[in-house]
Amino acid sequence: MTAKLRVAVFPVAGLGTRFLPATKAMPKEMLTVVDRPVIQYAVDEAKQAGIEHFVFVTGRNKSVIEDHFDRQFELEHTLEQRGKTEALQLLQADLPQPGKTSFTRQQEPLGLGHAVWCARELVGDEPFALLLPDMIFKSEQGVLAQMIAAYEQHGGNVLAVEEVAPEDVSSYGVVGRGEGPDEGFEITQMVEKPKQADAPSNLIISGRYILQPEVFELLENQAKGAGNEIQITDAMQGLLGKQRFTGVKYKGTAFDCGSKVGFLSANVAFALERQDIAVEFLHELNQIIRAAKR
Ligand code: G1P
Repeated sequence: MTAKLRVAVFPVAGLGTRFLPATKAMPKEMLTVVDRPVIQYAVDEAKQAGIEHFVFVTGRNKSVIEDHFDRQFELEHTLEQRGKTEALQLLQADLPQPGKTSFTRQQEPLGLGHAVWCARELVGDEPFALLLPDMIFKSEQGVLAQMIAAYEQHGGNVLAVEEVAPEDVSSYGVVGRGEGPDEGFEITQMVEKPKQADAPSNLIISGRYILQPEVFELLENQAKGAGNEIQITDAMQGLLGKQRFTGVKYKGTAFDCGSKVGFLSANVAFALERQDIAVEFLHELNQIIRAAKR
């Protein structure tokens, strides 16, 4: 029996320099894909997978994320008075249960591994999910839910992976593939941002992890790695041999909202799925494309 996955960690301390000036005073996680902030997509995915407690590792200028997951009495009152029940229900549906969110701050930008380590006291001695909110997915079943199936079968640690063009591997964490099917194969190696020639495969880590708490012990003394930052991938590689790591080639499409093109594509893709605006938006989009081709 594997321990139930109850807690998820969301590192949201990043500076978002790629989106300046939009992110000068606003966290990049609050940029919107259609009408929901990017962070909400990762939280929804975790909720759908049965996560009960949401841990956010924030930083300076990020307090609006905390506000987003709190009630807004004035707004609720106004909506109620104006009879805007649909909007009100929407807000209520997204609201986490009382006491089910925690926030801590990463005081210095020392890397993703360090951000995760900052959550150690809030997670405690149990397995946890790690969701990098920059990556959002369009999929029938949420990516974390797909991973839980493999977790229940294999226990240990589980990573969502996808194939990229071989020349792109150096931007990501890359895994080596051992025995087993796409739904759950053994990972033989993990390396952060390798040169194309050194990469064990073209399967990259897609920003979704199920991890055992022992990773915190490794992170405590983890040397700096790629980009001169403390990397979660290096700590995971340190655990390999002691614990199993399973790769899941998830079913779905990823959008990297940490890049401008990924973010814009996510907006188009999600808007075209929305019943309320899809037809009108597609019409506008076709016109824009036609005009651009001229
Ligand atoms: C992080 C991880 C990397 C992973 C990537 C997914 O890198 O370190 O292993 O493949 O997210 O987006 P970053 O994007 O922070 O450079």
